[in-house]
Amino acid sequence: MAYFKIQGGNTLKGAVAISGAKNAALKIIPATILGNSPSRISNVPNISDVRKMEEILLSIGAKVNNLNNELEIDPQNINSVAPDEKLVKKLRGSVVLIGPLLARFGRAVFSQPGGCLIGARPIDDHLDVFAQLGVKYYYKDEKYYFKGKPRAGKVILRAMSVTATENAIMATVLSEGTTTIHVAAAEPEIVDLADFLNKMGAKITGAGTHEIVINGVKSLRGTHHEIIPDRIEAGTYLIAGIITNSEIEIGPVIPEHLDLVLKKLSTCGAKFKIYEKDNKTFIKTFKHGELIAESIDTRPYPGFPTDLQSPYAVLMTQARGECTIFETIFEGRFRYLEELKLMRARVEIENPRSFVIKGPSKLIGTKISSGDIRGGAALVLAALASSKETIISDIEYIDRGYDRMDEKLNALGANILRLDEILEKK
Ligand code: EPZ
Repeated sequence: MAYFKIQGGNTLKGAVAISGAKNAALKIIPATILGNSPSRISNVPNISDVRKMEEILLSIGAKVNNLNNELEIDPQNINSVAPDEKLVKKLRGSVVLIGPLLARFGRAVFSQPGGCLIGARPIDDHLDVFAQLGVKYYYKDEKYYFKGKPRAGKVILRAMSVTATENAIMATVLSEGTTTIHVAAAEPEIVDLADFLNKMGAKITGAGTHEIVINGVKSLRGTHHEIIPDRIEAGTYLIAGIITNSEIEIGPVIPEHLDLVLKKLSTCGAKFKIYEKDNKTFIKTFKHGELIAESIDTRPYPGFPTDLQSPYAVLMTQARGECTIFETIFEGRFRYLEELKLMRARVEIENPRSFVIKGPSKLIGTKISSGDIRGGAALVLAALASSKETIISDIEYIDRGYDRMDEKLNALGANILRLDEILEKK
């Protein structure tokens, strides 16, 4: 496995370009199969999860043409409803393929997506949605077999699940009649998916609220769509600028997607301004005085995003005082804290859902390992803020969700070497 060798302590300077949102791209790419002609998706992030999703579409017969940050997808010759199970196991987010397959073919065969390091990640909420839509399914030899075109009607989500909401939308855009989705998640990536589907000819209203209404249409046609900027990547680099007390420009961003994050960072004493340039929006960080610890609890959007819990926690190691971080979404998202403690952060885990950080602590570089996408990125931020050298192994996790994180940070003046394990053995 590859690893990063990071010399911390540098001040950063310059501009970092924010890529398209991973969690929008991973739904809009499968949504293209609902069309009866090719779609073109631009501002696609260059990350391994997107490449896996491309391979999954190829495995069912779609044609995918990757033109750098742009994908051309032709769904007309799809000849299977059983995506490659090895690929599905590697990409939990591929669960959102079930909805479009059912809408178009009335059948899907899907292997149980793997859990991962942040929790069990079951799909029971998704199964409950399909059952409410009249779809029959059974489980055999670690695979789910789905049968039946989803019927329009009232769907009540068992939990405000992002991907279950997206599955419900994609499953019913072609169902004759009106579908109402209650207790829907409201994340910006869901709005981007609905915008794309409406451009294809769907009739979806209410995306971004907790009640979404879909009037089914007979068919959808391919279209072009530009993915929104990644709010989680933007928040990660914003915290990189703050934790290294640097002046960096981050963008493009949609600041409304980060309202509460920006409010919390301001409350801690971080300094930044938001401004327009070439009719896009950017955020610039400035040098700040002492940071003050501020507690957070992660919540469904528009609450504090769980995907920024770990970068924020790393920043809190540099703030005076103590704060409690309450993770309400995932039950296994604290693995990075053990690594942070190796760097001399003062962390007390109270239970699988909350921990206390006391600061400021002087972080000391050492050998640590990345456990999941966001925990790994947070450890890179810790390494930037620490003295001495940090080795972060298993950085494939980071590459899943961040588009060339080392290159973007080195362009700002960081000192990150990407090395292959083999070199180490020589
Ligand atoms: C999406 O995951 C995102 N992934 C996650 O981002 C994000 O953290 C999460 O939403 C919450 O915002 C993608 O969009 C590909 P959930 P999702 O269903 O939809 C439980 C990242 O790093 N649950 O909203 O899987 C689940 O275990 C990733 O970019 C069930 O119990 O999250 C979790 O505890 C990480 N049964 C909670 O609900 C289900 O059937 C919220 O999960 C589904 C979910």
